[in-house]
Amino acid sequence: MNLLAQADVPPLPHSLSFAGKSALVTGATGGLGWAASLHLAQRHIATLILTARTQKAGEAAKAALLVDPIVRTLPTQPTVLIYELDLARPSSVASFTSKILAEVPALDILLLNAGISTIEWQTTPETHTEQMFQVNFLSNALLCVRLLPLLRSSAAKSGAASHIALVGSRTQALHTYTKYPVPDTTSVFAFLNDRAHYRIQRYADSKLLVSMWVRELAKRTDASVVTVNDTCPGMVSTNLNTRQPWWLRGIMTVVNAVRGRTAGQAARSLINALSAGPETHGKTLGDFVIWQDRTRKKMEKRLWEETLGAAEELAPGSVQEAKLKD
Ligand SMILES: NC(=O)c1ccc[n+]([C@@H]2O[C@H](COP(=O)([O-])OP(=O)(O)OC[C@H]3O[C@@H](n4cnc5c(N)ncnc54)[C@H](OP(=O)(O)O)[C@@H]3O)[C@@H](O)[C@H]2O)c1
Repeated sequence: MNLLAQADVPPLPHSLSFAGKSALVTGATGGLGWAASLHLAQRHIATLILTARTQKAGEAAKAALLVDPIVRTLPTQPTVLIYELDLARPSSVASFTSKILAEVPALDILLLNAGISTIEWQTTPETHTEQMFQVNFLSNALLCVRLLPLLRSSAAKSGAASHIALVGSRTQALHTYTKYPVPDTTSVFAFLNDRAHYRIQRYADSKLLVSMWVRELAKRTDASVVTVNDTCPGMVSTNLNTRQPWWLRGIMTVVNAVRGRTAGQAARSLINALSAGPETHGKTLGDFVIWQDRTRKKMEKRLWEETLGAAEELAPGSVQEAKLKD
């Protein structure tokens, strides 16, 4: 018996079925994204849209799903579509969302899973923003704004709430915003993208931004139309640490061997979040339960406004279309 192991994630209800639904999963090439896609496929999802940074990686993920023994023997195979998406590039977010809105008639579930982790300062190629700020937070927020109208119209068609679930992390408790607050007079975006203010806890900071976004988005979205939450899967053995310096990668490999959940088990938390009820709206979950919210920050409102500004810059009119104006 491994006394250091995390508790098992509860099993999903036997009756849980996604028959007739369509879901979009970002970062579906491996780790939690692929494992969550497999759960959806095994539970009769009708259409599964997987994103990958290259078509080739997406096709490999699709092929691996379709040979799963449970999926292979389903009476109806899911339709699996691959779309390219690179969250580090706003131009990719813009062209991806335009394609989805033009080509996909209905979307019931949006699982925003793709993310990265490193302690090192690195910037994105197009906008030179700090990469975890862009990939883990901003691009996900932009996807929410752009795809919200489609999720709303799908809820009207199906008569049931659509779902947005973001993959967050309870490591957000290690955030630095209390010790190093963003000054009231400074733009949150400018502060976080200034190397002088960079801390090695940026992963935790980026996941707190995700929870802040979820809370603000939920205030402006009816839970019976689109339920929004974020969830932490615990510590999981995946490729998440491949961007870390070699010594930290080594430590994390050992820690994960002792404590890490398998992606298949941990992905049950993602499936729980994307099928959870209105009581989870605007909340951060951990292992199927609502996690204590201790991290409300003054900067939240400013973060919201600056993010809507970025959405308008990416796609003029998108904030109005998403009905997110106060
Ligand atoms: N593992 C953990 O212990 C843990 C704990 C809490 C939360 N999480 C969160 O869980 C989520 C999934 O992580 P994971 O553990 O499954 O890690 P992973 O195995 O590294 O998978 C990450 C996925 O995100 C994709 N991705 C990375 N950068 C991207 C970009 N710029 N644009 C689009 N997609 C990109 C990757 O695609 P490529 O194949 O192209 O790299 C991959 O499909 C992340 O949000 C992570 O923060 C993980």
